[in-house]
Amino acid sequence: MKKIKSKIKLLLKMRAVIITLTVMVVLLFLSAFVKDLWQWEPRNEVWGKRWPLEYKSFLETKDTTFKSLHNGSAKTDMLEKDPNMVILWAGYAFSKEYCQPRGHFYAVDDVRNTLRTGAPKNETEGPQHGSCWVCKSPDVPRVMNENGIDNFYTKKWSALGADIVNPIGCSDCHEPVTMNLRITRHTLIEAYQRQGKDITKATKDEMRSLVCAQCHVEYYFKGDNKRVTFPWDKGMTVEDIEKYYDENNFTDYTHALSKTPIIKAQHPDYELFTTSIHFERGVTCADCHMPGTMAEGKSITDHRIQSPLNKIENTCGVCHAGHEAKEYVNNVTDRQNKIQEIKIKLEELLVKAHIEAKVAWEAGATKEEMDPAIKLIRKSQWRWDFAAAGNGNSFHAPLETARIISNGIEMGQEARLLISKILCAHGIIKVEYPDISTKEKAQKYIGLDIPKLVADKNIFKNTIIPEWDKKAKERERKYDSEKY
Ligand code: HEC
Ligand code: HEC
Ligand code: HEC
Ligand code: HEC
Repeated sequence: MKKIKSKIKLLLKMRAVIITLTVMVVLLFLSAFVKDLWQWEPRNEVWGKRWPLEYKSFLETKDTTFKSLHNGSAKTDMLEKDPNMVILWAGYAFSKEYCQPRGHFYAVDDVRNTLRTGAPKNETEGPQHGSCWVCKSPDVPRVMNENGIDNFYTKKWSALGADIVNPIGCSDCHEPVTMNLRITRHTLIEAYQRQGKDITKATKDEMRSLVCAQCHVEYYFKGDNKRVTFPWDKGMTVEDIEKYYDENNFTDYTHALSKTPIIKAQHPDYELFTTSIHFERGVTCADCHMPGTMAEGKSITDHRIQSPLNKIENTCGVCHAGHEAKEYVNNVTDRQNKIQEIKIKLEELLVKAHIEAKVAWEAGATKEEMDPAIKLIRKSQWRWDFAAAGNGNSFHAPLETARIISNGIEMGQEARLLISKILCAHGIIKVEYPDISTKEKAQKYIGLDIPKLVADKNIFKNTIIPEWDKKAKERERKYDSEKY
C-alpha cells in the first residue's frame, strides 16, 4: 500500500515533466502531417490560413471607397478626366483606356479587362506579350520557375491567361516558413547585377522599399522576346534613363500625329522616391503604405496597401506627431495641386506641338527640316510622362518632379518655335486646333473606333476568360496532392 502511495506521489511530483513530454510527442506526431508551404504557392488564401490577420488586411485592398483629392482607390477614368492624354498617346494602346490604379486585389481583373490588352481569340493572337503579366501576380515567379524565364517571354499574353490568375500576393514578397521579405522578380535582381550590386545583401530596411521596386518602377520590353528590363545601367534619373534609351535606339511607339519616336514612361515610383528627403532619412515605402497596426489585439503590419491618408494616425502621425489629420492631408494636396498646375501646362503645350508637327508634315516639311523639333518633342514628352505616370510623385518627390516638368516645358516650347518657322516656310500662317474637350472627341480625332473595340472585348470577356478560369481551377486542384 505504502509503495503504491509513494509511487503516486512521485508521479504527481513529476507531472509537469510528464505532461510536457506527452505534449511534445503529440506535436511531433502532428507536425508530420503539417507540411511547409510550397515555395511558389500562388494562392493567397492558402497562405492566409497560416497568417489570417495579415491575409484579412490584404483582402481590404478590395475596398475602393477611399477617395483623396488626386488619387484614392476608386477606378477613375483618367482619359475622361484629362483628354489631353489621348492626344499625347496617339498611336499607342494607352489612348484607348487608362484608369487610375486601384488595390492589388484587382491586378489580374484590371489587366484582363482593359482595352489595352485587346480581345485575343486564341493563344497565338496579340496584341500584347507575356511581359504584360509580369507585375500582376505570384503566378509569374511560379511559371518562370517551372518553365524558365526565356520560355515565359516567348509566349503571347493570351497564351498565359490560364496560368496567371491569382492577384499580387504573399509569395511575391515573402519566403514561406520564415516569412522574410524576398525578391521574386528577375528584373530587379538583374538590374542590380548589371550595376555590380548584389540584392541579397540588401538590409532588412532596404527590403521594405525594394519589394515594391519589383513593380513600381520604370521598365521596358527589351529585344524581340520583349523581356522586361529596368533601364538603370547609367543611373535612375530622368536624364540617365533617357541616355540609356537613346544609346540603345529604343522607342515604344511612333506618334500617330507628329511621327515622333516616343519613349513611354511606365511608373517610376521608386526612382523618383529615391530623390526625396523621406528616402534620404531612411523612410521606406512600407512605413507609409504598410504601417504597423493593431488587429484583434495583436500588433501586425497593415497589408491594406493603399493611400497613407486612409490611415493617417499610423503613418504621418507616427513620425510627425502633434498635428491635426487635416494638416497632413494639406501637406499632400498642396504639393499635388502645385505640380498639377505645371503638369497641365506642359500637356497643353505638347498637344499643340504634336498637332502643329502634323500640319507641318502635311504641308510638305522634310525629315531634315523636322528632325531637330521632333527630337525636342521626344525629350519633352519623356519628361511629362516620367513625372505624370508615377502616381505618387508629386508627394513622394515634389522638388525633383517640378524640376523635370520645368525642363519639359522649356524643351516643348523650343520645339514649337522651330515648328512655327517650318510652318511659315511652307506658307502656313494659322493652325486649326481640334475640339478635344472630351475623351470621346479626342479619341475620334485620332481615329479610334472605341465601340468596335468594346464589342470585341465583351466577346473576349464572355468566352475566353471563363475558359482560363476553368483551366486554372483544374490545375490548382492538383496542387493539394502534388505539392503537400
Ligand atoms: C508584383 C507587382 C507589385 C508589387 C510587388 C507591388 N505592387 Fe503596388 N501595384 C501593382 C499594380 C499592378 C497595381 C495596380 C493594380 C490595379 O489597379 O489593378 C498596384 C497598385 C498600388 C497602389 C494603388 C492602390 C490604390 O488603392 O489606389 C499602391 C498605393 C501601391 N500599389 C503601393 C505598393 C507598395 C507600397 C508596394 C510595396 C510594399 C507595392 N505596391 C508592391 C503592382 C505591385
Ligand atoms: C508587396 C509586398 C507584400 C505582400 C504582397 C505581402 N506582404 Fe507581408 N509583409 C510585407 C512587409 C513589407 C512586411 C514587414 C516586414 C518587415 O518589416 O521586415 C510584411 C510582414 C508580414 C508578416 C510578419 C508579421 C507582421 O505582420 O509584421 C507576415 C506574417 C506577413 N507579412 C504575411 C503576409 C501574407 C499572409 C500575405 C498575403 C496575404 C502577405 N504578407 C503579402 C510585404 C508584403
Ligand atoms: C512619406 C510617406 C510615403 C512614402 C515613404 C511613400 N509614399 Fe507612396 N504615397 C504617399 C502619399 C501621401 C500618396 C498620395 C496618396 C493620395 O493622394 O491619396 C502616395 C501615393 C502613392 C501611389 C499612388 C496611389 C494611387 O492610388 O494612385 C503609389 C503607387 C505609391 N504611393 C507607391 C509608393 C512606393 C512604391 C513607395 C516607395 C518607393 C512609396 N509610395 C513611398 C506617401 C508615401
Ligand atoms: C517613418 C517616419 C515618417 C513617416 C511615416 C512620414 N514622414 Fe514625413 N518626414 C520624415 C522625416 C525624417 C523627414 C525629414 C525631415 C527631418 O529630418 O526633420 C520628413 C519630412 C517631411 C516633410 C518635409 C519635406 C518635404 O517633402 O517638403 C513633409 C511635408 C512631410 N514629411 C510630410 C509627411 C506626411 C504628410 C506623411 C504621411 C503621408 C509623412 N510625412 C510620413 C519622417 C516621416
